[in-house]
Amino acid sequence: AKKILIDCDPGIDDALALALAHGSPDLDVVGVTTVVGNVELEHTTDNALRLRDFYGMDVPVARGAGQPLVREPKTAGDVHGNTGLGGVVLPEPKSKLSDQHAVDFIIDTLAAAPGEISLTAVGPLTNIALALRKEPKIAEWAGEFVIMGGSYTRGNTNPAAEFNMLADPEGAAVAFNAPWRTVMIGLDLTYQARANAAVRARFADLGRLESELITPCLDFYGSHVSYRDEGPAIHDACAIAYVIDPGLFQTVSARVDVETQGRFTAGMTVTDFGAPSDVHNADVATTLDAEAFWTLVADAYRNVAAN
Ligand code: BDR
Ligand code: CA
Repeated sequence: AKKILIDCDPGIDDALALALAHGSPDLDVVGVTTVVGNVELEHTTDNALRLRDFYGMDVPVARGAGQPLVREPKTAGDVHGNTGLGGVVLPEPKSKLSDQHAVDFIIDTLAAAPGEISLTAVGPLTNIALALRKEPKIAEWAGEFVIMGGSYTRGNTNPAAEFNMLADPEGAAVAFNAPWRTVMIGLDLTYQARANAAVRARFADLGRLESELITPCLDFYGSHVSYRDEGPAIHDACAIAYVIDPGLFQTVSARVDVETQGRFTAGMTVTDFGAPSDVHNADVATTLDAEAFWTLVADAYRNVAAN
């Protein structure tokens, strides 16, 4: 199985992404690192620990940055609830946090297996930026770098910016400017992954996974005004699905720069598909095979529920 290290801010769709990674026979999750994002670091970390136990994952969880590189934290409690999983309260975590900081955990884990691990970030890119600053070689060591973030059309948190980019534009700029290729799974792609009624019907027989997590989370997440019509977009699971099977995605090579100066446009991922190819730094996802994506998710969830 392919090794993956997941940097996240759970977060409802982060939680659903972790279940996909854990349940996929094609992935081996080697670590989970947490960052401030949807909710404060204390909650994203606590949620990661509780989710690890609930899913039966045997994997280190390391706590990362509680603040963006430069700006004040900006959370999204309206979308994810004040503690991050809607109203869901999972049992107290039994297992302990890693005593390493996420930044050191990322560096050491990638250093130990150069070229082998997919580094996948589905929250603000603060930990990734700090790790790049501390050990620039991680850009070489990561087998690939996949993010959920950005958009080449418009944002979700404001017209210009997607949440993960707006939460830490300077961190995102460091990540996009590193000498690796960023696979950008942005909103244009993730809006194709809607947990509508037909999708949710496929999760009906998953026991406690369905009744204690998926359904209450999706009820909360799907009630957000931006999601009422077509069902909530399960953004972060798309990045995991890319790591499992990039064949479900069409991507286009481009130059992506993150705006850090704009008064109204900070966090915008300015995507130039027409730039000369020698300055391209990203593969930007455009089209998802949604049917195959949901089959991947449903199969993985069945594996999680069975254990
Ligand atoms: C992204 O922002 C967060 O709210 C979600 O978890 C996802 O990572 C979508 O814009
Ligand atoms: Ca997230």
